[in-house]
Amino acid sequence: MKKVVLLALVAMMAVSVSFANGQQEDGKIVIGANIYSFADNFMNGVMKPELESYATAKGADIQVVDSEGQQAKLNDQVDIFITKGVDVLAINLVDPAAAGTIISKAKAAGIPLILFNKEATEAGVMASYDKVWYVGTDSAESGMIQGDMMVMDWKKNADWDKNGDGVVQYVLLKGEPGHPDAEARTKYSVKAFTDAGIKAEQLALEADPNWSTQHGNDKMAAWLTSSFGKDIELVICNNDGMGFGAITAMKAAGVRLPIYSVDALAQALTHIADGELDGTVLNDGVNQSRATLDLAINAAMGKDVTAGTAWTLQAASKAVRVPYVAVTPENYQDFQ
Ligand code: BGC
Ligand code: CA
Repeated sequence: MKKVVLLALVAMMAVSVSFANGQQEDGKIVIGANIYSFADNFMNGVMKPELESYATAKGADIQVVDSEGQQAKLNDQVDIFITKGVDVLAINLVDPAAAGTIISKAKAAGIPLILFNKEATEAGVMASYDKVWYVGTDSAESGMIQGDMMVMDWKKNADWDKNGDGVVQYVLLKGEPGHPDAEARTKYSVKAFTDAGIKAEQLALEADPNWSTQHGNDKMAAWLTSSFGKDIELVICNNDGMGFGAITAMKAAGVRLPIYSVDALAQALTHIADGELDGTVLNDGVNQSRATLDLAINAAMGKDVTAGTAWTLQAASKAVRVPYVAVTPENYQDFQ
């Protein structure tokens, strides 16, 4: 009899140990995740499907909710995940300045947290919790690569300088103001010209918190019919989504201006193949999704977050940064 009680006790202990290691009764890790907005081409088209399929491949359970572009909604979603007892959180902030709120919630609940795609902007916030990490990119790198592509092509195509003044008259479709990717892409894409000794003149810039195709279309259509419409020599887009809209607007107006974007979505590769887009930059959402989940699962199991993976963590920012790659008419087929 005593032996039976003892065995039951051992079995109970085993169960509680496996829970402490962050696993469901069936042994599966439960990940509470979100996308800041399912309306975003890149997040919904690349990251969400990869998060779901890679979680399945790793034998984890993931729930991905839509924060609909509202930080307050995301705060509530995180509360619900915590109440449900998820093992780890994988969070795509709506407002990159609101990381502190989410980190405090995770810390109070003792749940590890992986932030992805929108890097926290508040200084020191990543150091406020030992179980928070970031997965994304080096935002400036995308702007530099896009800028270098544009400078190279500008130099090769003398006729792009329509008024022959040696200055690039450009318009810029910017993503979410305050988003590290949007800020850095805007800055470094243009800086590439000045670094190369080429003057650049901004004719117009419009930002969109949703990085949307509709915005790209509306703004480009308006710019083309504006007083400076005929002066535009280059269209710089912070992402493909806005670029798609600009391409549609140009086609409708019967013009073809040099245009560059970032992400390398499947549709962008088609536009390059069709001669409608001059270049994009691969934003490797597949590997960003995999890194997010590799770190999340390790963290849930109490392991070193990069254990058994090829990811390297930057100590100061507690970040894994997946590299960007230039995609041009010469190499786009490698990405199809
Ligand atoms: C992507 C954009 C996307 C944004 C969302 C960026 O890294 O390039 O397409 O809209 O992330 O946060
Ligand atoms: Ca010019």
